Amino acid sequence: MSSPRLERMKDAVRSLYDRNRQRGTAPWCGRDYDFVCPSMGTYPFQWFWDSCFHAVALSHLDPERARIEVRSLLANAQPDGFVAHVTFWQREKYEDMLATYSIAYRTPYLSDCIQPPLLAEAVQAAARGEGGAAFLAEVTPAVRRYYDWLDRIRDPDRDGLVATLQPDESGLDHAPKYDAYLGISGLAPEEFTTAWERVAGPYAEVGRDPDRMFGLDLFVVEDVLVNTVYAENEGVLAELLERTGDTAGAEEMRRRARRSTTALVEKCYDRDAGLFFDLAGAEEEMLRTNSISSLMPLLLPDLPAPIAATLIDHLEDPREYSAPFPVPSVAMNVPSFSAGPVGKLVWRGPSWMNTNWYLSRGLRRHGRTDLASVLEDRSARLVEEHGFREYYNPLTGEGAGARDFSWTGIVVDMLARREGEA
Ligand code: GLC
Repeated sequence: MSSPRLERMKDAVRSLYDRNRQRGTAPWCGRDYDFVCPSMGTYPFQWFWDSCFHAVALSHLDPERARIEVRSLLANAQPDGFVAHVTFWQREKYEDMLATYSIAYRTPYLSDCIQPPLLAEAVQAAARGEGGAAFLAEVTPAVRRYYDWLDRIRDPDRDGLVATLQPDESGLDHAPKYDAYLGISGLAPEEFTTAWERVAGPYAEVGRDPDRMFGLDLFVVEDVLVNTVYAENEGVLAELLERTGDTAGAEEMRRRARRSTTALVEKCYDRDAGLFFDLAGAEEEMLRTNSISSLMPLLLPDLPAPIAATLIDHLEDPREYSAPFPVPSVAMNVPSFSAGPVGKLVWRGPSWMNTNWYLSRGLRRHGRTDLASVLEDRSARLVEEHGFREYYNPLTGEGAGARDFSWTGIVVDMLARREGEA
């Protein structure tokens, strides 16, 4: 039986998701859509990793709605396996919003980018309960094609780590870890736009052909957050394949999951700092900014115990991450850290619910249920006191960015895990 607190949270998320639900038929592809958008005010379209978080939250409210969310996400999966980071289902209605969005398009309705690949986790959650097996049989082939696409197209050096070709692909759009690599020295939005144009122009000239974009070596980042999610999801996909009777496929995905985890530890872990760092460019230079990405491998069950313990030390350090309302997206002792919003720039210090979700799960997996429980409790308090905001000030708890922001609803899964429901 759920606690009254969890029940209240479920009701709040249910009502939020009813407000942010987008339903209709898209004339451009002749398909119906039905998904929860990140926020009606600022993000009315279907974003990839947002939708995956929504599916996990929905699986606690109504598994059928979670399946509908995933089906909408996969409705425009491309024959080669690619799934866009944004589907602009109803773009005609919000044309003005796109004027300032620095993004590449595959078609007018699909972006040509990826986002952190948690599709397998979304499918696993949506397959809860009755009807789950049929749903798995229905969607697993497309899910497998998506991870095969990532492996084939986004890992040209074949080390088990996929690369992003522009900052937004990590989901951490303006994170300071990219500043020096992108040649950004201030906080003026124009600097970020110009940095994007320096990459986007040459990409367009090579027809956005992935091999040639990699060849340009303008922005190639083997991102720790993206690859932690990738490794985790290769493992989850192995389980899904096992459940659908594809033993050989499951074995292959387990092999890939091990390869990605090993590569993260061998290539991205800096023993002196006791932190993971992204690798940039063909030379794979470490981007040494202490940020939330640096801690993410805590999620991986196979992470060697001494490394997990070191990451937890960072998490507990009041100079770095142990804020009153954790977990800040940049360590507080990094000069570029900002507790409050920095105009429209995101991921420069505030705490976000999706990274809290991953870290609390990592803490549980590595035996720190005490700390996981505190993190889950503080996360729920943020929502209870300040509403479903896009992100929160780690020092005061004050909410900022978009209002009625959907992925913050992932907090229901955190509370459910705490109560042993998930
Ligand atoms: C911002 C975030 C990105 C998210 C999108 C929609 O761009 O940085 O991660 O997917 O908003 O919520």
